[in-house]
Amino acid sequence: MNSSSETEKTSKATNIVWHHASVARQALAKQRGHRSVILWFTGLSGSGKSTLANAVNAQLFERGLSTYVLDGDNVRHGLCKDLGFSDSDREENIRRIGEVAKLFLDAGVIILTAFVSPFRNDRAKARALVDKGDFIEVYCSANLNICEQRDTKGLYAKARAGDIKDFTGISSPYEEPEFPEIKIDTGGNDLDRCVKLVLDKLIELEIIPFD
Ligand code: ADX
Repeated sequence: MNSSSETEKTSKATNIVWHHASVARQALAKQRGHRSVILWFTGLSGSGKSTLANAVNAQLFERGLSTYVLDGDNVRHGLCKDLGFSDSDREENIRRIGEVAKLFLDAGVIILTAFVSPFRNDRAKARALVDKGDFIEVYCSANLNICEQRDTKGLYAKARAGDIKDFTGISSPYEEPEFPEIKIDTGGNDLDRCVKLVLDKLIELEIIPFD
């Protein structure tokens, strides 16, 4: 990872020096029996990102793995509560999440992030923060019709009525991943099936042990 040089290049503060961790990621992986990775769930609001990420997380926990879920709605209550939904605020939201996810990676944790993250460029920047193979994009591909029909939070109705501006899929774009490592049809499969598809893929990618 190129953490120190990246920080020096882009940080506003001067005279800061990267401090290397005393317990390396490799040692953490050895002790815990699995390597850390970022599982980056992306998709429209209502596509099932958080539900799927949490259900996958429960299965990983059952297997004794170290995991954590970072969820868009939750993070926006704290770390990102100063941000709205303009393109630039979303960019900053995703930048912060990318950095936080990278810290979890260093901590030896499988970090599952569930954010709309609608812009390809922002996702690419999050991916570029870490080494190849450390960032697994999980595209929850339920289409707009299905998400709008579900309208679990009632937000699509509000967006259609013009009560929410810049709403993804309605008045703000969603740029589909071109080459996600994992693509799950969360509109056409039930939750158990989606969880199985993700776990199978994680085994195939040798991220989690075969069970
Ligand atoms: S992101 O675009 O910056 O990645 P994030 O995942 O944090 O978005 O937050 C999306 C969640 O905020 C949605 O699931 C939805 O519940 C809520 N939300 C509120 N307003 C909007 C909006 N304008 N566009 C999308 N989601 C919104």
